[in-house]
Amino acid sequence: MQKFIIVGNWKMNKSFQEAEEFFLDLVDVLENKELDNIEVVVCPPAVYLEMATDLAACNPFSIGAQNCSQFDDGAYTGEISASMLHSMEMDYCIIGHSERRQYFGETDESVNAKLKKLHENSIVPIVCIGETLTQREKGVTKDVIVKQLSGAFQDVDVNDNVVIAYEPIWAIGTGKTATPEQAQEIHALIRKWIAENYNEDVAKKIHILYGGSMKPENIDDLLIQPDIDGGLIGGAALDIAKFSSMIETAVRL
Ligand code: 13P
Repeated sequence: MQKFIIVGNWKMNKSFQEAEEFFLDLVDVLENKELDNIEVVVCPPAVYLEMATDLAACNPFSIGAQNCSQFDDGAYTGEISASMLHSMEMDYCIIGHSERRQYFGETDESVNAKLKKLHENSIVPIVCIGETLTQREKGVTKDVIVKQLSGAFQDVDVNDNVVIAYEPIWAIGTGKTATPEQAQEIHALIRKWIAENYNEDVAKKIHILYGGSMKPENIDDLLIQPDIDGGLIGGAALDIAKFSSMIETAVRL
């Protein structure tokens, strides 16, 4: 079995002091732990990335950014390029999160452009996809997922350099988790799509994470599904006690 990847996406939360305190607690939590079957990743706000990558350099966790520009360096005020993230030794970068699609105009095309920039800079993209409640109720979830995959992966060579996160929008921050069966059904569809568009070997190796109200109470039932390879966790990853309890569960499984 491949390693679980447990990712905390802090979104726009925590002061610098709170962020530093969390990371120091995380260092304690991970000390002397057998982490053979799990990779722990934290994606703090961009202003804390330097502090976070410094700490990660000598500790068993990785750091990811929450977004990057679709452009190269240049006159793009407020943006952060993939090459800047590379120069800070970033391991991962989330792209296409539904909040960025909803509030900041992210599209499948911009996700595709960002994915390519990240690959040029040897950073693993965590590509988020997922349907709205209306789309699920209309029965078009699978079409939405396939369209998002086709858009994001247009002319992209995939091996083990991509992580996909299935985040049903109706489950994000709502406390409403997809049932393990609902999540598994879509994860299996994603893996099948990868097998058909790349090959079986890539499909076997690719990590497909679940996100949407994942918490200590439901993480076991989700992680034991055959096609769920980890989690992209928002709210519950802000609390070190909850985050470490979810790490414990993944270590145990
Ligand atoms: P919640 O875990 O708060 O539902 O957020 C999920 C998410 O959006 C992670 O990227």
